[in-house]
Amino acid sequence: MDSFRDKVAVVTGAASGVGLGIARALAAEGAQVVLADVEADALGRAASGLEAVGSRVRTHVTDVADADSVGQLRDFVMAECGRVDLLFNNAGVATYNRMVDTTDRDWQWVISVNLMGVVHGINAFLPTLLEQASPSRIVNTASPAGLISCLPYQAPYAASKAAVISLSESLAAELEAMGAPVGVTVVLPGKVESAINESDRNNPYGEKKSILSDAVREYRALVGREFAKDALSANEFGLEVVAAIRAERPFAVSHGPFFRIVVAARNERILTAAYGAS
Ligand SMILES: NC(=O)c1ccc[n+]([C@@H]2O[C@H](COP(=O)([O-])OP(=O)(O)OC[C@H]3O[C@@H](n4cnc5c(N)ncnc54)[C@H](O)[C@@H]3O)[C@@H](O)[C@H]2O)c1
Repeated sequence: MDSFRDKVAVVTGAASGVGLGIARALAAEGAQVVLADVEADALGRAASGLEAVGSRVRTHVTDVADADSVGQLRDFVMAECGRVDLLFNNAGVATYNRMVDTTDRDWQWVISVNLMGVVHGINAFLPTLLEQASPSRIVNTASPAGLISCLPYQAPYAASKAAVISLSESLAAELEAMGAPVGVTVVLPGKVESAINESDRNNPYGEKKSILSDAVREYRALVGREFAKDALSANEFGLEVVAAIRAERPFAVSHGPFFRIVVAARNERILTAAYGAS
């Protein structure tokens, strides 16, 4: 996709962090951006910020965990814009806990947002993208956590992100086999400034940090410190994502050299443990 001017882009989880950074970068390129998020107030503030720099934005309060809500988002976009060119399934949440203390509800929450949110976006928008038969792209935000997977205290998060990478690869292969002009990009933010560590603000079941053990608290603090060290701003990363989409790349990443080493080590560990040394 050479130019984003007047293209219609839908971004979920757009009120904060990575989603807002992507929305800003797209707006700067002249795209019509539809911001979708479960947090109505934050959505309003994000839209005002973009409008202040002269962009045309629309907002729709959407819960990606709810298929009907995502269907309403699609209907809103089609009624307002008449088409859609870029779909960013970006909303995500994280929990920190030992698996022994992680409740079914926490599992359901993380899976319903991080995995089913992506599925709901694809189910709602893909038939429209296929019908339009013009170049378009589905962009799913996963995480290096989905490639590293062995993340203590973050099992639901890592599992959901591994699933998003997997389903995106399957979808890309299917679309290619169909000869459809719909591309797929997976976003792997490494350390990008955001409010992901305050995800509990959106936990409808209200499972609270009070049940965290000391080890989990320490781990969480460590992750926070590591994140802060050489984090990219969401605006910087938004530009990287837009560049990757322009180049029709299958992945958009941050901190590539670091994660390349970590992912390669994990893959080698599995290959050796499962199939023996090469
Ligand atoms: N920040 C990072 O370094 C990093 C690293 C790896 C992956 N990610 C991924 O990036 C994506 C964005 O996260 P972020 O880091 O910007 O965090 P964030 O908390 O700043 O933004 C997430 C947004 O998603 C929204 N959201 C939460 N539940 C929702 C729901 N049910 N429906 C609709 N919107 C919902 C939140 O209100 C928030 O605006 C997530 O998928 C996250 O897993 C981020």
